[in-house]
Parts: sequence; structure tokens; C-alpha cells
Amino acid sequence: MSGTAGPGVARWRVAPGGALEGSIVVPGDKSISHRSLMLGAIAAGRTEVTGFLASEDCLATLKALRAMGVSIEQRDPHHLFVEGVGRNGLQAPAGPLDMGNAGTAMRLFMGLLCGRPFDSTLVGDASLMRRPMERAAKPLREMGAAIETLEGRPPVQIRGGRPLHAIDFQMPVASAQVKSAVLLAALSAEGRTCVTEPAPTRDHTERMLAGFGVELLRSGRSVALEGGQLLQATRVQVPGDFSSAAFFMVAASLAAGPGLTLRNVGVNPTRTGLLDMLISMGADIRLHRHEGASPEPVADIEIRPAALRGIRVPEALVPLAIDEFPVFFIAAACAEGETLVRGAEELRVKESDRLAVMAAGLAVLGVEHELLPDGMWIRGRPGLGPAYGGGRIDSHGDHRIAMAFAVAALRAGAPIEIYDTANVATSFPGFAALARGIGLGLVEL
Ligand code: S3P
Repeated sequence: MSGTAGPGVARWRVAPGGALEGSIVVPGDKSISHRSLMLGAIAAGRTEVTGFLASEDCLATLKALRAMGVSIEQRDPHHLFVEGVGRNGLQAPAGPLDMGNAGTAMRLFMGLLCGRPFDSTLVGDASLMRRPMERAAKPLREMGAAIETLEGRPPVQIRGGRPLHAIDFQMPVASAQVKSAVLLAALSAEGRTCVTEPAPTRDHTERMLAGFGVELLRSGRSVALEGGQLLQATRVQVPGDFSSAAFFMVAASLAAGPGLTLRNVGVNPTRTGLLDMLISMGADIRLHRHEGASPEPVADIEIRPAALRGIRVPEALVPLAIDEFPVFFIAAACAEGETLVRGAEELRVKESDRLAVMAAGLAVLGVEHELLPDGMWIRGRPGLGPAYGGGRIDSHGDHRIAMAFAVAALRAGAPIEIYDTANVATSFPGFAALARGIGLGLVEL
């Protein structure tokens, strides 16, 4: 349970309606920021990272690496230097490593740490301690790791000193975190590990490993790498986070006003499912690609208001938009006709049960919807007037739920109050100020 009513719980009041205008830069990509620290740490030499996301999640990764002897200089919050300790240089931490709210940090560290000579324990906040870890522990155990979870959940106990060997892993769940955990373990395993995913998921680990000089063989939905390869320090430029840009893409589609430009956003095709979904709903979104951005493609994104139509979301797009469904459901609530999402049961094991928590919030606003075991059905109310009412929303401490309902206020008929908003800092520090700056009537209480 999250404490909606307790004193001191952070909350927002967002005024209904409003027009949006501006040109903004969203903070750095969370997935890429985590990976830049981890790969920089085990590389030989000094890795420079620019555009780093200094959010609570990424800072949990940074602190954990420091606790294992990695020196990281933060020249400013977004520009840092990681002194790589090399393949075998991580040292035993003095105590449990606290991953906070960050599922990515926990699952990737499982892969990074299970082949080390020392023991380690991974813990997190109340939300993370409820999330499933066996999906990563199982293949790592097959590689020879000794990993225990508590009935499938953290704390994760890793016993060191186990030699790892390569596996051929057919992933049962489309999860970039699990894929990445196995690839990180594969670096210190004997032999050639191959991972095959059931559907494409974000490939930042593969792209970044190649940037650090690791040879990978990618073919269709499989990726293979030979253990024992050394990483060479490099320069990582972290683009803006598409998942943070997503809130403003939907906001500028729904609100009145000239629209928004989002500059320097990562547009890796394994992340941009929401773009395809919004465009097939009739959104007016244009990409201006930056020439030569590599290994991650980057673009400026221009969004103008548009009348949206409901769609049936192709299941293949679900993993490519997995973090964007909270705000996508808000777009659907303002679109003409019905929208159906199926095959999205993974949303139930994110920072909150995002299907249940979004359904509860949609019910508060009076949006016609049906919660499904693996998705959601929504009938939207198009037009220029309010699409639904206001009310009090419990975010359950989930950053993306809080930001989605802030966007919802643009088409509400009354104010929306959002409870338990502190965790927005896990992925998007400064969201409230940035949103206010372009015209959202958001007050922090
Ligand atoms: C992430 C992968 C996704 C995503 C998460 C970040 C990553 O999780 O939801 O926010 O950085 O690899 P899953 O791998 O569980 O789908």
C-alpha cells in the first residue's frame, strides 16, 4: 500500500485545460545512463559520460559501483568520468547494495556480479522488494551462478566464486533487463552465450557493448557473445529519454496551443513504439533526425495538437512502448472511439501494477474503460471540451503514473490532485518545473 493520506506525502494539483508552447530538452535516457556506468566500471581506462541522467535510479547504480571501489568523478550532475577497474577489478562491497526503486539496476547488477569472487546482496525500496527477480536469477543459475531470491523477490543474495559457463537462452519473457543481465554475465563466462528474445526489446546493451569494443553477433532476435572479452573505455553521449519525452508528446497532441518541440531525444527503434501508436491515431508528430548520431539515433521531435482516433495496438508494439502505456491510456481517453491493448501483462510487474493503478485512476476521472488481465479497453471522448472530470489520483509511488495523470489534466473538466509524487525523481527530476514552463498548471503541494 502506498501512503496517500499521510502527512508530508508529496502531491501535485494540476489545473484543468491550458495551452502548450515551447521548445524543451528532456533529461538523459535512464536505460543508457545505468549501462554507461556499469560498462564504464568494468572497462580498461576512463570513460566519459555526457548527458547523464542524475535521477535517483541512476544515482543508485552510481553509489553501488562506488561501494565496489569504482571511482566516479561527477564534473557536473550530467557529465562524469568513470575510472574503469577492468574485468576483474570490482571489490567486495561492505554491505548490501541498495537499488532504491530501480528494477533495471537490480537485474543488471545480478548479471554483472554473479561471476565475481565475492558475495553480494541486492535490496531496494518497498516497490522493488515486491518485484519478480527469478526471471533473471534462473538463466544466471543455468550459467553456474549461485543466486537466491526470497520467494522470487529481493533481497537477492549472490554467492561469489562460481565459474560461469555459456548458455543458449530462449527468453520466455520479452525483457531487456533479463537479456542484459545474461549478456553481462556472459562477459565473464567460458564460451559463447546466445540469447534469443520472443520479441524485440530495447537493445541499448548490445549497442553500448559494441561501443566498448565487444564483438557481438546479432542475427534476427538473437545475440551471441564470446566470454572473456575486454572492454575498452569510450565516450558515451546519452540522448534525451524517449520515455520522458513521451509525456510531452501526448500532452502536446491533446492540448490547445501551437505545440512543442522536444530537442535531442533518443529515437532508437526499439523504444519508439509510442510514436507508431500515436501516428496511427492521427497525431501530428514530425522527427528531425540528427545526422551521424551513433550508436543511438537522436532526433528533435515536433508535435502539434491533433484529433486522435482510437486504435487496436498491435501486440508486437507492446515491448517497444512498454514504459509508455500509462500516458498512452490518457491519449486513448481523449481519442474518438475505442482503443484496445492486449498482451501487456508485463505492466502488472512494473513499479506498480500499472494496469490496475491506471484503471483506478481512469475510474476516478470517469473515463469509460475495462481492465483486462493483460491490457485495457478504453472508449475515448474526443472534441475540444473536457474529455472527463477531475479528482484525486493515487500514483502508488509510481513515477510514470503520476506524470501520466498530470498530462491528463489538459483535457479534464476539473482539477486533478495526484498523491505520492516523490518518485518522479527516480526518472525525471525537474518534471514539474519543465511542465509548468510550457503551460501546464501544475503546483507542487
Ligand atoms: C529497461 C527495460 C524495461 C523497462 C525499464 C527499463 C531497461 O524493463 O520497462 O523501464 O533499461 O532494460 P523489462 O526488461 O522488465 O521489460
